[in-house]
Amino acid sequence: MFKSDTQNLLSKEKIEFYSNNGFVKIDNVLSKSELAELQSTVNDAMEAPAHFSVQTDQKGGAYYKVLNQKVNLWRDHKGIAKYVLDSKLADLALKLSGSDGIRLFHDHALLKMPGDSKPTPWHQDFPYWPMNKETSKKALSIWIALDDVDESNGCMMFLPESHRIEDLKPINLAEPTNIFEQSSSAAIPKTSPVTVRMKAGSCTFHHGLTFHYAHSNKTNKPRRALVIIYMPDGTTFSGKRHIITEGLNLQKDDRFQGELFPLVAKNS
Ligand code: SIN
Ligand code: NI
Repeated sequence: MFKSDTQNLLSKEKIEFYSNNGFVKIDNVLSKSELAELQSTVNDAMEAPAHFSVQTDQKGGAYYKVLNQKVNLWRDHKGIAKYVLDSKLADLALKLSGSDGIRLFHDHALLKMPGDSKPTPWHQDFPYWPMNKETSKKALSIWIALDDVDESNGCMMFLPESHRIEDLKPINLAEPTNIFEQSSSAAIPKTSPVTVRMKAGSCTFHHGLTFHYAHSNKTNKPRRALVIIYMPDGTTFSGKRHIITEGLNLQKDDRFQGELFPLVAKNS
């Protein structure tokens, strides 16, 4: 993948849309052959024994009904690291977020399984992340569709402008509370949620504070997405417990850096 691709994918309008609304869709971020490769490596990685990666719930579990999730795939699978460390994708995150440098926090495959599928409730991502707020205001995720998605199989919805709402608590995705009841109604933007249908190989980016939701999967095939979380260079550890930082011996206020949190893009 080449840096010049970023210019083709990212217009000034897209950057402005992201900045105003807290999310943006970018079509065809992967070529046909990249999509086929990533679909097959994610399928293999979901089945492979985990070494550094972690599957967060098993079939039958309450969380599994919302998401069959495997975290940190890049550390076990070179074929996934190729995309998670990819400079084209990271450069999109750099430009959208307006950061000087972007580090990887972690990746995760998010599959919505057929059968007893539950929606992903409205939530913000930032309250789960162990990052000091002042250092990580530009943190964001890319959600890469590995299947065509619409309301029948788990496409996402976003609440425009909700990325300005700070200091909410994390939602338990398996036993959700209503995020709209957590914040004063005055703080919630009067915008309408936007449903984002996409073709496989397209993606959305969303800010760590943007309210988002995903429909349940009512089809008979898994809905597959690869998500990469990026944080601005200079982000520091808040000390909050998190699966990614468990056992790393990070001290509160340490900077995220080194080979586990690589710098994947920077302004030249
Ligand atoms: C989903 O894929 O269902 C949810 C993704 C997210 O919460 O970022
Ligand atoms: Ni989320």
